[in-house]
Amino acid sequence: MTTMLITGGAGFIGSNFVRYVLENRPDASIINLDALTYSGNLENLAGLDEDPRFASRYEFVKGDIADRDLLAPLLDRTDIVIHMAAESHVDRSILDSAPFVRTNVLGTQALLDAARHSHAGKGVARFVHVSTDEVYGSLPLDRPDLKFTEDTPIQPNSPYAASKAASDLLVRAAFHTFHMPVLTTRCSNNFGPYQFPEKVIPLFVTNLIEGRKVPLYGDGKNVRDWLHVLDHCEAILTVAEKGRVGEVYNIGGDNERSNLDLTRAILDIMGKGHDMIQPVEDRKGHDRRYAIDASKIERELGWRPTRSAWPDALEQTVRWYMANAEWWRHVKSGAYREFYKQQYSGRERVGA
Ligand code: NAD
Ligand code: TYD
Repeated sequence: MTTMLITGGAGFIGSNFVRYVLENRPDASIINLDALTYSGNLENLAGLDEDPRFASRYEFVKGDIADRDLLAPLLDRTDIVIHMAAESHVDRSILDSAPFVRTNVLGTQALLDAARHSHAGKGVARFVHVSTDEVYGSLPLDRPDLKFTEDTPIQPNSPYAASKAASDLLVRAAFHTFHMPVLTTRCSNNFGPYQFPEKVIPLFVTNLIEGRKVPLYGDGKNVRDWLHVLDHCEAILTVAEKGRVGEVYNIGGDNERSNLDLTRAILDIMGKGHDMIQPVEDRKGHDRRYAIDASKIERELGWRPTRSAWPDALEQTVRWYMANAEWWRHVKSGAYREFYKQQYSGRERVGA
């Protein structure tokens, strides 16, 4: 049995990853370490504890990745770390970058230290750091030939991206200085179930169901490369199992869309008029375009996206939010924050 410590496993990508691993790796057991910040939601994982296929292989620990006392005993029980816990929303980082530095930089530092000192100084077998294409900065719209490769200079533009870049550099230093078996992934924008409705797709879909307009920043021409979250999960697991330590792997969907095209596609799927678009002031420092060259992970590890094809994958995701109104209404109303207290309080096995 391989034990994975997944940090941030109650968030959007983390909860999809926890399910993905439990369903696809019967010889893996999971410790899910999550502080349950505003974006951590145990309703994303509802049912796992009771599922007889998973119950003995899944454990939730409520805690902070910066809490070194908590980390030490957990890392002694861990073979592979999958580090996803982060403050993840650009707009929040513009309002206040302090939690971003605390969790993304200092939290990653604490986790790296604990992973290195675990197992009586032998350390964990693998440490996968889940990062983002946003560390590379922004590409121009008039150069469609340019894409981010793993060799593109790190030039983050938002406080979020800067904090992730700092964490990437700590991971790099851990490899070079301490020979830690680290791997870094840098992925493009994800879509799929259980995404916190502050991010553009779930925000727009849920606004429209509520009869509200959708706030499109600036001229709407900014481009993002969209990847289905389960393709991302599969890529992370592939890197964890087959990647070369010390390497960075870009992950992308080869699926570039302008925000205006994305918004129109959502409106069309939902049968809403384009007059529901509300142009609003642009985001400060808004990166123009992200585009990923994912040829390295395909060439070396044989991974390619299979679930991200447009527009079907987008339509499936839009329909998931339409069918799961109870989930996002709890999030938008804040009711999900009570779920932990009712269902879990006192049941976590911290450092057991
Ligand atoms: P999310 O905000 O949905 O989830 C983050 C999770 O981390 C939450 O469950 C939260 O409670 C937890 N967390 C935050 N601070 C913590 C702390 N100090 N200790 C323990 N847990 C803490 O984010 P997401 O979209 O699922 O992103 C997950 C990771 O993937 C992040 O590292 C992010 O940078 C990266 N990423 C995201 C995307 C994307 O499109 N969403 C793309 C590329 C990379
Ligand atoms: P977001 O989902 O916040 O992801 P990221 O900033 O990490 O790419 O935003 C995706 C794109 O959508 C980005 O270009 C900003 C834009 N956007 C809007 O136009 N309106 C919104 O209300 C939000 C949240 C984002």
